[in-house]
Amino acid sequence: MVSPIPPAVAAHVPTGVLVDGQWRPAHSGRTFPVADPATTEVLFEVADGDEQDARDALDAADRAFAEYRTTAPRVRSDLLRAVFDTLVAHTDDIARIVTAEGGKPLAESRAEVLYAAEYVRWYSEQAVRLDGLARRAPAGTHHQLVLRRPVGPAYLITPWNFPIAMIARKVAPALAAGCTAVVKPAQLTPLTTNYVAEIIRAELEARGLPTGAINVVPSSSARTVSGPLLSDPRLRKLSFTGSTEVGRALLKQAADNVLRTSMELGGNAPFLVFADADIDAAVTGAVAAKMRNAGQTCVAANRFLVAEQVAEEFTAKLTAAFAQLVVGHGADAGVTVGPLIEQAAVEHVGELVGEAVDGGATVRIGGDPVDRPGYFYAPTVLGGVAPDARVVTEEIFGPVAPVVSFGDEAQAVALANASPFGLVAYAYTRDVSRALRLAESIDAGMVGINRGMVSDATAPFGGVKQSGLGREGGEAGIEEYLESVYVAL
Ligand code: SIN
Repeated sequence: MVSPIPPAVAAHVPTGVLVDGQWRPAHSGRTFPVADPATTEVLFEVADGDEQDARDALDAADRAFAEYRTTAPRVRSDLLRAVFDTLVAHTDDIARIVTAEGGKPLAESRAEVLYAAEYVRWYSEQAVRLDGLARRAPAGTHHQLVLRRPVGPAYLITPWNFPIAMIARKVAPALAAGCTAVVKPAQLTPLTTNYVAEIIRAELEARGLPTGAINVVPSSSARTVSGPLLSDPRLRKLSFTGSTEVGRALLKQAADNVLRTSMELGGNAPFLVFADADIDAAVTGAVAAKMRNAGQTCVAANRFLVAEQVAEEFTAKLTAAFAQLVVGHGADAGVTVGPLIEQAAVEHVGELVGEAVDGGATVRIGGDPVDRPGYFYAPTVLGGVAPDARVVTEEIFGPVAPVVSFGDEAQAVALANASPFGLVAYAYTRDVSRALRLAESIDAGMVGINRGMVSDATAPFGGVKQSGLGREGGEAGIEEYLESVYVAL
């Protein structure tokens, strides 16, 4: 198959390291391949950044911070607004890159570009609305002012599953707050990040702002880049989206310099369907919550907890809905489910399904890899799954929907909370009182009621328990990049 990135777009994808406004080869001269997961064909060779590149990038971010932090809020706002306009104008081009390196269907990639752009627009608006505080101390002895300052150079590590949305929701609040950034994109999907970073670099340059405000170090080794950055006292902020395991290791490293951290980590979202729910609406929501990016999202519904009275109806209708899905190359017309990101993911999903079946689950549809080039696994519904099966207790990150039935609400909540993770939960019920009880009792940073999608650039996204620390998006997202300085006078 020809490259899914049109040549006119491919010509504008930077493949280097971005340091201080310059794209250049890696210090070592080494590169690593970036492949299309739907074909395994190599798309580009990208500069393989190392320790020296990381240090150079932090030098640039630190130098740029001295000037960038003093820019007027309106200047930062206008910068981001221009980036928003450019992203929207290039939606189709960027979507092609997202699909080529990440595999998701083009319609989803376009939606991701617009979702990402919303973060940029929102923080362009927030840049001029940063509140402080001024009041008389209660004893009347002095005044208390609280000023807001950017925390400093930030290290932003982005995942492969949303290569534009995740850089947008970190870089936009960072730049709005007056911070500068070193970005480490996922090894599997650096092309989108580089393309977007070039848009930001060009806008900085056009406005006479320090281009070192954004630096990018792609690398085949996250550790190589993270090590020198996390041990350097000039770095003041770490934001990471990825697995809980890696997040834990980064938190330990960040502790040495007492870094501000935001961690968006693993999930294991329960999707609850009560007997009073609109089952057809629940099935529509289930497909949305499960199948976005072939199930490779932190907010993917991971376990379907369904009231015994409606478990068979829900499972049958979900199976019928999965039968309508079209698996294939994301750039092909009509495709609704793309590949998984790599072969190891196909194997992991296969293991979880195999174990569930050995434990008594029934395959209602799917249950196997798809026999074609690339890393495809068939959309799968498993009925009658044991609550302690690994496919229920572990994050699947694939197109598999295990259905577990429950008796009453108390049991549903207990099952939902039987996880060390707490990113998001979904619940379908027509009972408003129950909906509020669930929102208060389920351990999750986000709850979707009669909705299969909660993600929204203008709302706080984040988890509780081992799903992370801090929030991205909404008013809360920019707080992660600001210090409060109390002045008594
Ligand atoms: C994620 O999966 O990490 C993010 C998904 C989203 O923002 O909707």
